Amino acid sequence: MEIMEKAPAKINLGLDIMGKRLDGYHELSMIMVSVDLNDYVILSELPDGRIEFESNSHRMPHNHKNDVYKAVRLVKERYGITAGVKIRLEKTIPICAGLGGGSSDAAATLRALNQLWDLRLSKEELIDLAFEIGSDVPYCLEGGCAWIGGKGEVVELLPTKLSSWVVLVKPKFGVSTRTIFKEIEPETISRVDIDGLKAAILADDYEGMLASMGNSLEDITIKKRPFIQKIKDKMLEAGADVALMTGSGPTVFALCPTEKRANRVMNSMKGFCQEVYKVRLLS
Ligand code: C5P
Repeated sequence: MEIMEKAPAKINLGLDIMGKRLDGYHELSMIMVSVDLNDYVILSELPDGRIEFESNSHRMPHNHKNDVYKAVRLVKERYGITAGVKIRLEKTIPICAGLGGGSSDAAATLRALNQLWDLRLSKEELIDLAFEIGSDVPYCLEGGCAWIGGKGEVVELLPTKLSSWVVLVKPKFGVSTRTIFKEIEPETISRVDIDGLKAAILADDYEGMLASMGNSLEDITIKKRPFIQKIKDKMLEAGADVALMTGSGPTVFALCPTEKRANRVMNSMKGFCQEVYKVRLLS
């Protein structure tokens, strides 16, 4: 049996850092939404216990350091599975981009293994496994539009009809999430009104949503990589309703009300950055 799972990218409509926890992690309040830029995970069983991994991309580790690999190992260990698995990862989502690609691939792997080995894992069991792999993985199990709290393990789906065209611009360089989080000074960091953003989203109020969007990590990453500010300025000049960094960066996304406007923003970015994508929100 071969199982294929789609792994969509995400963007942060809002990201607020509430404070530092005693365990060194940060208390988060975020709103994420999936976009239709997808990786695919294709799994089939191997009888001899091995984990075989292949991918069209060589920009990421092909071993135990890969989150997909971690997901397989975790499930095998936790549920005493002796069979192995062959994984093919078709990568489209840029790596180290703030688009949650690795997390979404790991979540897709957990969903696929649940089917492949007929594990019948509950939502809570899947969330526990997901959280052991990474903070964004629990959200990626279902994707869509959601509020995320705690360290990333609290996920509340937000039903909304909001739709929008999205232009994603990924500069050449990547950013390490860990490095950006290390620079946080909770007393001075700029805060984002996530409650206001959530209310606007639930009311399908596009203008209200635009007014409350923000990312507390943006100033930190822009200080290290001022080019991100240039991308934002250029997108706004070209007619984007909003241009914001996603996650810890460096990808910037623009929201546009029509495809025509999205095309204009996309065209203005070509030649400035190599990796430019026009996608839709998957709320
Ligand atoms: O969980 P993940 O591997 O995605 O997190 C990467 C890094 O981001 C962590 O090592 C930590 O430094 C930081 N982080 C944090 N607080 C969170 C989530 C992540 O400080 N809630």
